[in-house]
Amino acid sequence: MEQQNWLYTDKVLEHFMNPKNILLDEASYQEDGRGLVGNIKCGDQMIVAIQVDREKETIKDCRWKTYGCASAIASTSMLSEVVKGLTLEEAYKLTPADITRKLGGLPEHKIHCSVLGDKALRAAIDDYYKRTGQEDRIVHE
Ligand code: FES
Repeated sequence: MEQQNWLYTDKVLEHFMNPKNILLDEASYQEDGRGLVGNIKCGDQMIVAIQVDREKETIKDCRWKTYGCASAIASTSMLSEVVKGLTLEEAYKLTPADITRKLGGLPEHKIHCSVLGDKALRAAIDDYYKRTGQEDRIVHE
């Protein structure tokens, strides 16, 4: 049988095999915002929870959990590292392409998986805005 080439970069493999910032203890995590989204393309789900430094308006911590594939796991793991310390506005503007670039790329047919963490992050920020009476800051896509 002909050997298939591995489609993923070393960075993807590293984050898939050793994902960072997993939401292990959901019940006791002191979140300031939480987003739950599904991917209609494949039926997978993602939860992203954030802690916010209210004075600086920055993301202090970002945890996540998914029923998703290797690409969703690797891209959300990378996302959870990248957003720490960003302002809410900066985090809101992060795109799946930014994360994919940091991973050294994803196979074309797996790009949609990187959207899952990104959407859940924005939903978590929106949730924070709701909880703190700042609904006017929510961007309706
Ligand atoms: Fe569902 Fe990748 S196939 S997130």
